[in-house]
Amino acid sequence: MSQALFSAPASGGAFLEDLKRTHSCGALRAGDVGQNVVLMGWVATRRDHGGRVFIDLRDRDGITQVTFGPDVDAEAHALASELRSEFCVAVAGRVISRGENQNPKLPTGEVEVEGLRLQIFSRAETPPFEITDETDAGEPVRLKYRYLDLRRPALQKNFRVRSQIARAAREHLHGNGFTELETPYMVKYTPGGARNFLVPSRQNPGHFYALAESPQIFKQLFMVAGFDRYFQIARCFRDEDFRLDRQGEFTQIDVEMSFIVEEDIYAMMEGLLARIWREVKGVELALPFLRMSYEEAMARFGVDKPDLRFGLELTDLTEVLRPLHGGGVPLFAGALEQKGIIKALRVPAKEAASLSRTEADKLEEFVKGFGARGLARCKVAEGGEWVQTPLAKNISVEARQAINLALGAGPGDYVFFQFGRPKLVNAVLGGLRLHLGNKLNLIDRSTWRFLWVTEFPMFEYDEESKRYAAAHHPFTAPRPEDVALLATDPGAVKARAYDLVLNGNELGGGSLRIYQREVQAQVFAALGLSEDDFRAKFGFLLDAFKYGPPPHGGIAFGLDRLAMLLTSAESLRDVIAFPKTQKGTDLMTDAPTAVSDAQLDELHVRLKMPPKVD
Ligand code: AMO
Repeated sequence: MSQALFSAPASGGAFLEDLKRTHSCGALRAGDVGQNVVLMGWVATRRDHGGRVFIDLRDRDGITQVTFGPDVDAEAHALASELRSEFCVAVAGRVISRGENQNPKLPTGEVEVEGLRLQIFSRAETPPFEITDETDAGEPVRLKYRYLDLRRPALQKNFRVRSQIARAAREHLHGNGFTELETPYMVKYTPGGARNFLVPSRQNPGHFYALAESPQIFKQLFMVAGFDRYFQIARCFRDEDFRLDRQGEFTQIDVEMSFIVEEDIYAMMEGLLARIWREVKGVELALPFLRMSYEEAMARFGVDKPDLRFGLELTDLTEVLRPLHGGGVPLFAGALEQKGIIKALRVPAKEAASLSRTEADKLEEFVKGFGARGLARCKVAEGGEWVQTPLAKNISVEARQAINLALGAGPGDYVFFQFGRPKLVNAVLGGLRLHLGNKLNLIDRSTWRFLWVTEFPMFEYDEESKRYAAAHHPFTAPRPEDVALLATDPGAVKARAYDLVLNGNELGGGSLRIYQREVQAQVFAALGLSEDDFRAKFGFLLDAFKYGPPPHGGIAFGLDRLAMLLTSAESLRDVIAFPKTQKGTDLMTDAPTAVSDAQLDELHVRLKMPPKVD
């Protein structure tokens, strides 16, 4: 094939027009020796050696060494002497063996191309950093010159993985009868959920669109419309604080299905992920995935997205210590009196051995970051005694033995305690568990531990407003057996909602939706809202639901998070082509920027304060 594309390298003919590219820069092998080839790409390095010019030519596929000698073609050699890093060039030449000088680090390292012709398409200024995988360049400069950053082979690979994920998802869903549909980005503002970005309407003075935080309501309307199975690779916008795993603008693989229950969603999504892993990683995932209720996840791991790649599970000691009235420890007794809980994390002796006393002391600072007031701990000695702890002063022998028994604690173990409000206790110990897992190197990074977390609470109690709020969103269906509790004990109602967790990351979440009016009315009531209140916000959805809504439900996966995990990237910024910084700025384009008074006038907007100029 390549021969047919390649015409007379040494005798005229123009690159691009006549001389078509025959190979990528990652393609040539020993078997190609003797072929005439045309390569195009960027100069990664240039060296002069023994009167010859050596370049490493790079494209998205790899690197090939090309040499130019005055004895081979004087003109090409002279031009090659002008080459600098990142010049964009075309080369025509012959594949020769590198003989003794093979480079085993390069897939193309058995061969090189002896350059017969060279064209410089464009020259490059010295780039602000070297285009290599290992770079000392800080993130700010990389983001400012993102197009150069993206030239780095490691990032090129990340984006090819991202593209493979999207393709595998599309193929799986198309193959299963889904229709790919789009929903608007500029939508009606609805309160609740994430904070929205707002867009002023020029045509409607004083009115604003919101940028959609997800296609949620529209995808439900697709079900009412009878599309049956919808998907979209959808951009979502949330004005949240950016973190390593959060961007204000991100992408979901968004799915909704009619006439289904949870099991149908699980099976469809497990198939989707199995396909992605097969195509991207060549790994066959074990199906079905493990499942765990929200309650169990919180009890054992302190979080609703447990990382199952290591142990260090938590133990609830509340009911051990209640009959003992705190076992002589005033802080435990106080926590029990205030309806708090007492939990502990045991670090087994083997792992505890690599945790020095000073390091254990430092953990106290760490948990304060989670809002803890302190971190009680003890070390278990021979015979079950507690040492290195002020708790030893007060704890009764009976309580100590009961705790050791509940924890399975033996000599050399460390035990860390936390007591008080369940939310804080779990957050602190859940955070500590992860921290220790990392610090003590307990995480098996070669495994993929998927987990469906199920039976989430339907509502969260908001201490400030003294009201229940929807934990997922207000259209999430309660478990049928809990409907009666909506009126009497909303806090105890479990939702038909589920999250998919991978190695401690929330990959996706969804739910079955309410399609029965009576149930919806009861949920509104539990939220302390009249139908009128709700109508003002979601009237269009309630109207639609008057016309025969099918039973339906769905899920959305974070595509960026999938890509992050599949490429082992540390941040979403390594899998989003043009990401924003933590402060929400784009260092390449300088967005967001101030706009002119005339533009603001057109939008009927007046600034309260003049924009800050840096
Ligand atoms: P949810 O809000 O749980 O559900 O979002 C689904 C998934 O999207 C990803 N995600 C994010 N990724 C990057 N940056 C963010 N700021 C961000 N926020 C969320 C996560 C998350 O699991 N409409 C519902 C889905 C449904 O019920 O069908 C929804 O949006 O991986």
